[in-house]
Amino acid sequence: MNTAKLILPEQEVELPIVVGSEFEKALDISKLRGTTGFITLDSGYGNTGSCKSAITFINGEKGILRYRGYPIEEIADKCSFLETAYLLIYGNLPNAEQKAAFQDNVTSHTLIHEDMKKFFEGYPSNAHPMAILASMFTSLSTFYPNNQDTDLDIVRLIAKAPTIAAFSYKKSVGQPFVYPRNDLEYASNFLQMMWAVPAQEYEVSPAVRDALNLLLILHADHEQNCSTSTVRMVGSSQANLFASMAAGVSALWGPLHGGANQKVIEMLQRIRDDGGDYKKYMAMAKDKDSGFRLMGFGHRVYKNFDPRARILEKAAGRVLSELGLSDPLLDIAKNLEEIALADEYFVERKLYPNVDFYSGIIYRAMGIPTEMFTVMFALGRLPGWIAQWKEMRDDPKGRIYRPRQVYVGATERHLD
Ligand code: ACO
Repeated sequence: MNTAKLILPEQEVELPIVVGSEFEKALDISKLRGTTGFITLDSGYGNTGSCKSAITFINGEKGILRYRGYPIEEIADKCSFLETAYLLIYGNLPNAEQKAAFQDNVTSHTLIHEDMKKFFEGYPSNAHPMAILASMFTSLSTFYPNNQDTDLDIVRLIAKAPTIAAFSYKKSVGQPFVYPRNDLEYASNFLQMMWAVPAQEYEVSPAVRDALNLLLILHADHEQNCSTSTVRMVGSSQANLFASMAAGVSALWGPLHGGANQKVIEMLQRIRDDGGDYKKYMAMAKDKDSGFRLMGFGHRVYKNFDPRARILEKAAGRVLSELGLSDPLLDIAKNLEEIALADEYFVERKLYPNVDFYSGIIYRAMGIPTEMFTVMFALGRLPGWIAQWKEMRDDPKGRIYRPRQVYVGATERHLD
């Protein structure tokens, strides 16, 4: 059966059924309004497929995440972040030659134009680094306005994003900018731009480098989430790559999306400062009038463990012990998780820890300040946004994104 019947008042229509490669089923309603005058209403788009995509597969019921068919666990175990970026953007893992060429290309574009440094001077020192990142991404389009070589612009973005992120941190602490180093791989180069200071030796810790590589990979794509849909939405008007990515950064910033990683740590600190009574906060999370939610819990798609959270929970313990650190927030997080997973409210609503629940503990151990957490997420998500933007732009049938609405405002009225 490849059609479904929709019975409307006074008419019936056949809607084509579309089946994906993992047997997900969808009704194709693209001709619905033209033939019946009806539209669909789906607030928050929970039942709306906005596109066909061959990049990332999620089965939220089973807790499965795959990039281009490869399980996230295998990629996290065996790949570098740049290989993962290449896989997402170009569809296959690079062979040795492609890998070396991509890496060289990225390495040779890490500098930002010297004039861009002046922009950093204009921000107050307490400016949120997500605001700076979004502005700087848009600013890149003023330096590279031609849009003629998409692959080159892709490399520029991936190469310059860590430089911009590290410069925004240096600005916030009043230290001189540290330039990128071509002898270091991606994660190590970012770390030295963050932590090196003039006239002092800086050595990248392998434990921190590996943790960063893992975090970037786990954040690299997540199909049609809020920021990715925003990137597609903006890109669908044929806005340039840099402007589209800036829109993704803005969407990611919100506390219900990527901003949750900052909010999780702030929540855990609040619980610790309040005497560590996490049961009180559990009760607040269940009370709709409290305005408090358990940050880092729940997900629109996962109704089972977020596989990224599982990997990160283990990594958090490992990174802390490799660095010889202990963090009371990790204990509070584990306790919260334990009681939430056994609590009827959370069980009934299928609320599990998401990627943001443990990522902040690792960022803290790495020395990354809380305000930078969502910037770290953006660095990881960038290849995913680019891959989705490119897929949309390469689609010959691509159209501008333009949803409809059901108008419920005043009917026609007139001024006296
Ligand atoms: N704490 C307490 N209750 C929650 C939570 C939470 N973290 N999340 C959902 N609920 C409850 C809701 O109140 C609702 O209860 P109800 O059915 O009694 O009204 C039910 O669970 C369903 O929640 P919705 O808000 O309808 O789910 P939605 O899919 O719209 O939202 C979201 C998903 C935004 C992630 C939500 O779970 C949330 O706010 N979580 C906390 C923020 C967070 O961690 N965001 C990061 C998500 S991962 C990412 O974007 C990278």
